[in-house]
Amino acid sequence: AAQTAANSRYNFDELTWGNDINHHIADGYNADVLLRWGDPITADAPEFDPQNQTVEAQLKQFGYNNDYVGYIALDENRGILCVNHEYTNEEVMFPGLGRQDRAGFEGMTKEIVDIEMAAHGGTVVEIQKGSDGKWSVNRNSWYNRRISPFDTEMTFSGPAAGHDRMKTNADPTGLAVIGTINNCAGGMTPWGTYLMAEENFHGYFWTDVVDADGDPDVSAQPEAVSMRRYGVPGRWYAWGQYYDRFNIDKEPNEPNRFGWIVEVDPRDPTATPIKHTALGRFRHEGAETTVSSDDRLVIYSGDDNRFDYQYKWVSRNVVNEETAVFGSSLLSDGTLYVARFNEDGTIDWLPLRHGEGPLTAENGFKDQGDVMIDTRLAADLLGATPMDRPEDAQPRGDGTAYIMLTNNTRRQADQVNAANPRAESAFGHIIEIKEEGGNHAATRGTWDILVKCGDPTVADVGAEWNPETSESGWFGSPDNCAIDADGRLWISTDQGSNWGRTGKSDGLYALETEGDLRGHSKLFFRCPVGGELCGPYFTDDAETLFLAVQHPGTDGTKDFEGFERDSTFEDPATRWPDFQDGMPPRPSVVVVTKQGGGKIAV
Ligand code: FEO
Ligand code: CA
Ligand code: CA
Ligand code: CA
Repeated sequence: AAQTAANSRYNFDELTWGNDINHHIADGYNADVLLRWGDPITADAPEFDPQNQTVEAQLKQFGYNNDYVGYIALDENRGILCVNHEYTNEEVMFPGLGRQDRAGFEGMTKEIVDIEMAAHGGTVVEIQKGSDGKWSVNRNSWYNRRISPFDTEMTFSGPAAGHDRMKTNADPTGLAVIGTINNCAGGMTPWGTYLMAEENFHGYFWTDVVDADGDPDVSAQPEAVSMRRYGVPGRWYAWGQYYDRFNIDKEPNEPNRFGWIVEVDPRDPTATPIKHTALGRFRHEGAETTVSSDDRLVIYSGDDNRFDYQYKWVSRNVVNEETAVFGSSLLSDGTLYVARFNEDGTIDWLPLRHGEGPLTAENGFKDQGDVMIDTRLAADLLGATPMDRPEDAQPRGDGTAYIMLTNNTRRQADQVNAANPRAESAFGHIIEIKEEGGNHAATRGTWDILVKCGDPTVADVGAEWNPETSESGWFGSPDNCAIDADGRLWISTDQGSNWGRTGKSDGLYALETEGDLRGHSKLFFRCPVGGELCGPYFTDDAETLFLAVQHPGTDGTKDFEGFERDSTFEDPATRWPDFQDGMPPRPSVVVVTKQGGGKIAV
């Protein structure tokens, strides 16, 4: 007999869907707030005071919009948490600075810009589990540090390090850069270092040169072709009005120094983070790692843009005692591949190697550094498959990988392909890849669509789920994902302002990949209104799950009954998680544990 939902491999009672000012977890579990925006993370940090924010305070406090969460155990009840801070939502961060002021940056000041910069980047912090099973931050730990685009010095490795196009007035070596921006998802290496993906870096660059419509005009720029392909400059933030390095009129090469994967050594706060240019430059969503069956490091990373590509990187050398250390040459020498999803269900991974095929000087690539700086232009020439916004990609040790395609409402009917089968896709889909021979380093494999997301009861949506999936279990816009210790898949969602169309909050779902229940999804956790769910990350003992609630009280709150307003600092749609007057909503890391202890969903 076919299995029913009662036979799910995920042992928990499904949470009921909805959306309100608080977070919710399935019965029998605790979901405790561990770290909030503004929480002190060093012994000398001041307490959070939202009415009197300063750059000095923010540089010692937990940053904004926690996205990726990673963890390395120091011992059974103690470890280091690594958290990305992707971006800032000024309208709910700063008193009196509504979103309507952003267009012309009315009310914006250098002081606010500095705080914004300090609230970006990452946090490395030691945490511990008490005898009551509750996790807490050790503010006195030597490991604790903030990483930010305000003042954290970084270096480069790989083919573009020191390249002429990486040199600026402030850095004639092309080897020294300040900070990292828009760190979305990420990954941990097998040797316990922390990878931060630089995603929407284009938005931080400024120009005063605009066309008749007020849009940036880069036609006089020497890097014009590259800038157009990457959307530089986006003019989302005012940073370039105060810092030359974020103004392309003054520093046209600075954007080439962002859009990389950054490696941080969480065990050494004095170690300079490294941007590894061998992994390519694009809007890196994440950087999840695995070791291939022939012992090489493999990193899957999507380029989160409509019609952009899925990539993976394979090291030349094997992972061993000598190479599996921070700063070794392993991550500077390897091959970046881009995916072609063939109509017959096979996949070809196409290498981005200078001198091969079209990647020649005649086509604008003088060397491998050019190929890496202009990864997108190189992948265009190779004939990669344009995807529906590749978000997180998660490999599993058996040669399987899961690719989150979050949505692409701009795909027209004449642009669909087998791997992106829906026009105007509002809710996205998930692809499962099986690499040839179970080897993640393989250059061929097969692929299949695991689920097509959205409401299965609305025919026009064209969703496909296992029919056992309940009204609470289906979701839209998969973004992040994780594999737990039992090899089971978990998905978190980011519907953006689009959630007015589902009525559902973003959340965490257990998605079955095997057997009769393949494609069956169950809701485990719900975000407060306007928040997106990031993380998720399971500890190796499967007893702790870290989740990151991003931008609570913002996305789409004006579209939802009971929340019909643009959120502001003074009038947010929720004051999660403190629910105190005058306290804005705070992006926070939440820790999930089973009541009474034990493995999650087992
Ligand atoms: Fe930062 Fe693609 O999500
Ligand atoms: Ca994301
Ligand atoms: Ca997203
Ligand atoms: Ca977001």
